[in-house]
Formats: sequence, structure tokens, C-alpha cells
Amino acid sequence: MRVLAIESSCDETAVAIFDGGRDRLLAHRVHSQTDVHADYGGVVPELAARDHMRRLPGLTRTTLADAGLDLDAIDAVAYTAGPGLAGALMTGAAFAKGLAASRGLPALGVNHLEGHILAPLLGEDPPSFPFLALLVSGGHSQLIEVREVGDYRLLGESIDDAIGEAFDKSAKLMGLGYPGGAALSRLAEQGDPGAVAFTRPMVNRPGLDLSFSGLKTAVANAIAAGCAFEDVAASFERTVIDTLEIKLKRALEQTGLNRLVVAGGVAANRPLRRRLAGMMDERGGVVHFPAIELCTDNAAMIALAGYRRLVAGERDPAPGFRVRARWPLAELRVPGCPAAAAVS
Ligand SMILES: Nc1ncnc2c1ncn2[C@@H]1O[C@H](COP(=O)(O)OP(=O)(O)OP(=O)(O)O)[C@@H](O)[C@H]1O
Ligand SMILES: [Mg+2]
Repeated sequence: MRVLAIESSCDETAVAIFDGGRDRLLAHRVHSQTDVHADYGGVVPELAARDHMRRLPGLTRTTLADAGLDLDAIDAVAYTAGPGLAGALMTGAAFAKGLAASRGLPALGVNHLEGHILAPLLGEDPPSFPFLALLVSGGHSQLIEVREVGDYRLLGESIDDAIGEAFDKSAKLMGLGYPGGAALSRLAEQGDPGAVAFTRPMVNRPGLDLSFSGLKTAVANAIAAGCAFEDVAASFERTVIDTLEIKLKRALEQTGLNRLVVAGGVAANRPLRRRLAGMMDERGGVVHFPAIELCTDNAAMIALAGYRRLVAGERDPAPGFRVRARWPLAELRVPGCPAAAAVS
């Protein structure tokens, strides 16, 4: 089964084609809207939706050409149905459902967070189940026990800002543009991570929840006090990584798992990858990351997650569509299980 997938949940328009029979990604393209939103210092939902509409037809044609295929070779269409910006989701869903209807193909709305978590399955060394997942993106910071595809138990999450959001807001305070996570990390390479003594949030409290809005305020205070930007960046990054390491050790002990998957945009952070690789090595465990280009939003992960469900017989029950700005992972079911038909 060849699945064409559409991703449009936020400010990346993406199309991918996954061949399930050969377990291979045939092509994937991402168009980032960074330029559209740059002047506003954040994503403007209405502009995001309009740009998705503008880009989707051309991007789909180019992705098909990259794979050397035409639409006759496609067996099903998957699209991101949530969570994300409602207007942005609707443009991708309408395009995907229109495409599927015009070709008489089955279509399925996919959960974006499930896509992120399953992205490492596209790699050379895919994780086996069960594993502990750390999802660290622009909108989410969650620790999830993953028993198998579709069987997710939320262990802890940020009670306020997501980690990517904390990176972006801190980067903005240093004039690094938006989204500034990667730029902040580059600046941190020149700084002293011990220069500013930030408190590691929530580590002295029991449980697995996280919190990053206080750290962002501490960054603002350090900048106001005249600390060098590179030192603030390095100290901020180390504090985030220290905090995650403490919580992850706790979660691994609590669940008895020794396999970790780290996904979402912040999983592209190299110092985080190094630290968690070292941590798992010491424990005799293993960590899996998606390829760097598949950490941030992409349609390859949606194609894979869609394939796993489509091949088990899941379909959108009706020709129309419903998108969900909020759609918790814990509501999902194992592929093929009837209760999974949450999107209609
Ligand atoms: N090298 C890096 N270091 C730290 N943060 C990074 C790095 N690269 C990207 N990011 C951050 O990743 C985030 C984007 O990730 P992603 O595209 O997965 O989030 P999103 O799709 O906006 O959120 P969600 O998936 O929760 O809806 C941004 O906050 C960005 O700053
Ligand atoms: Mg995302």
C-alpha cells in the first residue's frame, strides 16, 4: 500500500509518500512558512492557513515527481487531523479529502503527536515496543509510555510552556528571531553553561510533570541583569537538559523500561541527543531519535502513522472531515480497534 500524506497543522506545509509493502519512504517535501510569519514574531493562524492552500497543489505534484509516480500509483491518503491550528488543519484536511474523493481512494485523519512519536520507525535502526517516549516540540512536552502503536499512557507533561516554546521565547529575548530554538543552541556553543545558576524546574517535586515558564522568566531576568547572551543561552540549555535527564531517569525506573524514543522539534538539539545517548548507555539501555530532518514537522511521519492504521482497515467513516485543535494521544486506540475512529 502506497500512502500519500499531507501535513498542515502549523507553519510547515508537507507532503510525503510511504510505500508500506517495501517499508520505505519514497519521497518527502517540507515547505516552511518561516518567512510568512517572521515579521510577526510568531505564527499568524490565518496567514498559515492561506499559505497551506497556496502551496499544497504544487508541493504534491513535486513530491509525486520526486518519487517517480503519478496519482494512479497511490492507494490511500492520510492527513493530519489534529492537534494543531484549526484553520491550518482544515486546509490540509480539505485538500486531502478532495484528492481522495476525486480518485476514489480511502482517506484517514492522523494524530500529529502519534506521527512525531513513530517517526524513528522510519530510521535505519527502528525501536521495538514497548518504549518510553519523550515528546518535546513547539507545543508539547510529554513523557509517554508506549506499549505498541496506538497504546499510549501519559506519564507526565508540562503544566505550562512546552520546551520548544521556552527555547523560542528565550531566543526572542536575545533577538535571535522566530522560531529561535536552533539559533539559541548555536549561540550556546560559545557560552559558559555554568555562568548563570538557573533553578531546574520541578525536580524536587515527586512525579513526572514539567514546567518551563519560570525558566523563561529567569532568562529575562538574567538578560536584564546584563549577563552575556551566550552564557544565558548555554546555562538555559544545560538547565533544560539536566531537568529532562532527571525526569527521564525517574520515568524509566517507574516503568521498568530501558528503551527511550525522543521526538519532536527539540529532539534535533545536539547536546540533548548526546546527553541522553550517554545516559542510556550508562544504564545499558538504548535511545532512538528520528533523523534530524524528521524531528520538526513533516509528512513522512504522518504517512507512516497513517499506513499503520490504514493497513489495519481504518478509514474515515464519512466523506466529510472533522479536525481537532486538541486531540490527546491517550484517546487513540491500537490500529484496527473500532474505537479509534475518532475523526469523521
Ligand atoms: N536544535 C534545536 N534546539 C532546540 N530547539 C529546537 C531545535 N530545532 C528546533 N527546535 C524547536 O522545535 C520546535 C518546533 O518543533 P515542532 O515542529 O515539532 O513543533 P510544533 O509542530 O510547532 O509543535 P507540536 O508538534 O507540539 O504541535 C520549535 O520550538 C523550535 O525552536
Ligand atoms: Mg509538530
